[in-house]
Amino acid sequence: MSNYHIKHLEEYFQVYRKSVENPEKFWEEIAEEHFLWRKKWDNVLSWDFTKPEVKWFEGAKLNITENCIDRHLLTRGDKTAILFEPNNIKEEAQHITYKQLHQNVCKMANVLKSKGVQKGDRVCVYLPMIPELVYTVLACARIGAVHSVVFAGFSSTALATRINDCDCKIVITSDGSFRGKKTIDLKGIVDESLESCEGVKTVLVAKRIQSEITMKQDRDFWLQPLLEEASSECEPEIMDAEDPLFILYTSGSTGMPKGMLHTTAGYMVYASYTFKNVFNYTENDVYWCSADVGWITGHSYIIYGPLANGATSVLFEGVPSYPDFGRFWQTVEKHKITQFYTAPTAIRALAKEGVDYVKNYDLSSLKVLGTVGEPINEEAWHWYDDNVGKNQAPIVDTWFQTENGGIMITPIPYVTPTKPTYATLPFIGIQPALMNEEGKEIEGNQVSGRLCIKFPWPSIARTIWGNHKRYKETYFSAFENKYFTGDEALRDEVGYYRITGRVDDVIIVSGHNLGTAPIEDAINEHPAVAESAIVGFPHEIKGNALYGYVILKDTGESRNQDNLRKEINQIITEQIGPIAKLDKIQFTEGLPKTRSGKIMRRILRKIANNEADNLGDISTLLNPEVVEGIIKKVLN
Ligand code: PRX
Repeated sequence: MSNYHIKHLEEYFQVYRKSVENPEKFWEEIAEEHFLWRKKWDNVLSWDFTKPEVKWFEGAKLNITENCIDRHLLTRGDKTAILFEPNNIKEEAQHITYKQLHQNVCKMANVLKSKGVQKGDRVCVYLPMIPELVYTVLACARIGAVHSVVFAGFSSTALATRINDCDCKIVITSDGSFRGKKTIDLKGIVDESLESCEGVKTVLVAKRIQSEITMKQDRDFWLQPLLEEASSECEPEIMDAEDPLFILYTSGSTGMPKGMLHTTAGYMVYASYTFKNVFNYTENDVYWCSADVGWITGHSYIIYGPLANGATSVLFEGVPSYPDFGRFWQTVEKHKITQFYTAPTAIRALAKEGVDYVKNYDLSSLKVLGTVGEPINEEAWHWYDDNVGKNQAPIVDTWFQTENGGIMITPIPYVTPTKPTYATLPFIGIQPALMNEEGKEIEGNQVSGRLCIKFPWPSIARTIWGNHKRYKETYFSAFENKYFTGDEALRDEVGYYRITGRVDDVIIVSGHNLGTAPIEDAINEHPAVAESAIVGFPHEIKGNALYGYVILKDTGESRNQDNLRKEINQIITEQIGPIAKLDKIQFTEGLPKTRSGKIMRRILRKIANNEADNLGDISTLLNPEVVEGIIKKVLN
């Protein structure tokens, strides 16, 4: 018995113990009993965090889409796999069955093949939350191509960087996307980015908003006619356990985003097993994760995890505020959602609008509520618990990262007693450690430190695409023989974890990871800007917002500062995307620096957080005199 579905706390502790005392045996049993293999593995795990190198289920052969689709066809062929809820409430929802998913994925796979896509090729997916997105992702996996989904809110420059970094020859996009009342010209963004992507030879365009777009001859093709002609049968490519499945970019402390590479078998096993337990999934549930597939949460918990379990997974195209702030709750009622998984920033934004929007709908189908992406504050936690879950549906505060592939620290609903703001206990197989700044592990409870993981889990990213050195430096160099998360956490008296935030130059705004360096690079491109520094400050809805300190080349007296602020945010929107816009921009004459020339962000952070009376010793600065000037002009 492999304990695939944990039902009570004692069982959790038993299974957890088993998973850390003999991880190979534990994961071998899970893999053996719950997945379809073309060939079993020769070796369950080999690892060395000093290289770093991790391999799970080496020698095994499989195709993840056989596990997510084909094996359900006999028993669940007519069951809804993807429930598409469109942006516009008047457009009918689509129930895409497992049989239809199979046909559509095969058709898409054949279209990709007809355009020359082969095993191992990278495919850039820049699509809104429409069924074609799911088909494309799975079609890549079907033929062994590596998907690189880029969130369709990223700008043309950000898209180009990601296309070039992993050398994609093909982009799948749409004429545009719906976002509430607005439409976004996705094809226009792709066209702009391709001006600097010489490698892209083909663009496939799904029709969604029926806008007039230009199609470049011999490069751009409408997807629908190709799909209509394609065969609905496509034999899966048989992959090695460690063959790449996808690349997903995440921000880092330096300019270039990191293309996290995930491989096939371990990712599948972990995404599937966590989905089953973290959402207490049972056969007739209708599960909804409101994240975008452009993030890891969407990869693992809209597509791969749910489908590997034969679940019905909702794909929501819209936004929480359209046509009004009741949209989430109306959708829960309409589809009788059983598990609802969203981000703290969405909860805070909806809480602000009052409970009337919630009260209008019947939410009694809900049995589990989830949150992910950033720390959830106590007030938002209780609002969610009281008004959405009516204190009946446990909240799972799930902590993980793009690099992790699957949920790492989380309550198991109906098993782990929850505690507001705490992600609680490590998931099965996860061995966290808190470290002090001297590199020693902090034992015992009621302590806090830097969060590391001591032992590999099946879905750990294997490398940064094209830059293994950076992978090693970023995650395996700060603490010997451990994976460093970049987060800080505390452990309470019973061993529950609370993730308190980043310790590096990544700021989480509305659940999106933003590195300060690429934003500063963008600002510095403005001809009037000499230098800049970005820090985060607490924001009621977004969790954190961005505060920019900007030094102008001329002292700025003669310039209209409001216009400059707009121009700076415009550049950021163009280079990265609107999510990275600054809430506050303070023009300053200097930035506090160390004697080696490094900007002291700690000081800037305190000033932006209104803690200027608590700066500590600043006498070691190269230029302590600038600090007072900055404090005087701080923006509230
Ligand atoms: O700081 C942590 C925060 O989000 C970071 C990972 O971001 P990303 O790779 O975009 O993945 C987000 C979705 C999995 C983490 O390093 N984070 C994520 N979940 C939580 C969280 N912080 C606190 N509580 C969480 N539940």
